Amino acid sequence: VSPENQQILSASEWVAKLYHHLLRFTKDGKKGYQYLKDRGITDETIDAFQLGFAPEAKDFTAAFLDKKGFHQQTLIKSGLLSQHEDNSVSDRFRGRVIFPIRNHLGKPIAFGGRTLAGQEPKYLNSPESELFQKGRILYNFDLAKKHIRKQNQAVLFEGYMDVISAYQADVKNGVATLGTSLTETQARLLRRYVDTVIICYDADDAGNDATYKAAGILQRAGCDVKIANLRENMDPDSFIMEFGGEAFQDEVIKLSLTFTSFYMRYLKKDFNLTLEGDRIQYIERVLEHLATIDSSVEREYYLKELSSEYDISMDSLTQQIQSHRQKMG
Ligand code: CTP
Ligand code: MN
Ligand code: MN
Ligand code: MN
Ligand code: MN
Repeated sequence: VSPENQQILSASEWVAKLYHHLLRFTKDGKKGYQYLKDRGITDETIDAFQLGFAPEAKDFTAAFLDKKGFHQQTLIKSGLLSQHEDNSVSDRFRGRVIFPIRNHLGKPIAFGGRTLAGQEPKYLNSPESELFQKGRILYNFDLAKKHIRKQNQAVLFEGYMDVISAYQADVKNGVATLGTSLTETQARLLRRYVDTVIICYDADDAGNDATYKAAGILQRAGCDVKIANLRENMDPDSFIMEFGGEAFQDEVIKLSLTFTSFYMRYLKKDFNLTLEGDRIQYIERVLEHLATIDSSVEREYYLKELSSEYDISMDSLTQQIQSHRQKMG
């Protein structure tokens, strides 16, 4: 690590402690503390994730770090301070709940800050740097690692609050791709530790599209993929808030779907299944996917489902799939 990056690591560690202290113990951080309480987050969890609050004042962090002797240029590079068009410098994070993003050694390398006031963006993140590349790290990997290894399974979420709520629900093998799409690098990282990855993205259109993409990337990296059984339009955190941690474990995680089940449902969005022509095209597309499954038992399982749902004989479905498989060679 270069001397400057060493400085950035050190400044980040100080700031994580500062924001956490403010949130936990001071009047300045009360708003942030209350916000997390309202979202059901306990003190123990706040401490485990070192959650914090960055005050409104425009140079609170700047003054704190200046006193510690850090160079302004270094702090700008780290993203803790922002330099504006008129060259003035101020704190990047102001009036936001802070989520430190730790590297695999548990050291904070970046931050996400959530607005309390409905400002845009909802989450403000540190800029990318030599130390922080979104596509190379997974949020919470350092804490989740031992659980991931022990269970031979990881749960992949979209965001900070999903990982944190799941942790409180005793699902501690959770990590997140911070809003961006999963990269091959992240998939390879997971594959080093597990056979199975359960994708638990938000059950909205964006989340379903991202699930489909992430599943392909994970499968190509050699992972078995399952898809969490989340109700439509919920995210994991809102599910836990509404139905509790046990329901999350028992219904959402334990009843995860196979990729094929997810895909058969996901594909429907492209078709109007009340139309005969669309229905036939849909079935064709499902068969193309089923043809890629090597296990004949598994193929038959889904064929039966198609056969009864669309009232087509097993004979013609099987015939069709065999012809696909022959074409595949
Ligand atoms: N995200 C981001 N910048 C944004 C919006 C989202 O970096 N402007 C990232 C965050 O890591 C966020 C994740 O994408 O946690 C998922 O986004 P979203 O589902 O919109 O947010 P939630 O995590 O559900 O946020 P909350 O529950 O706090 O509203
Ligand atoms: Mn989302
Ligand atoms: Mn959203
Ligand atoms: Mn969400
Ligand atoms: Mn949410």
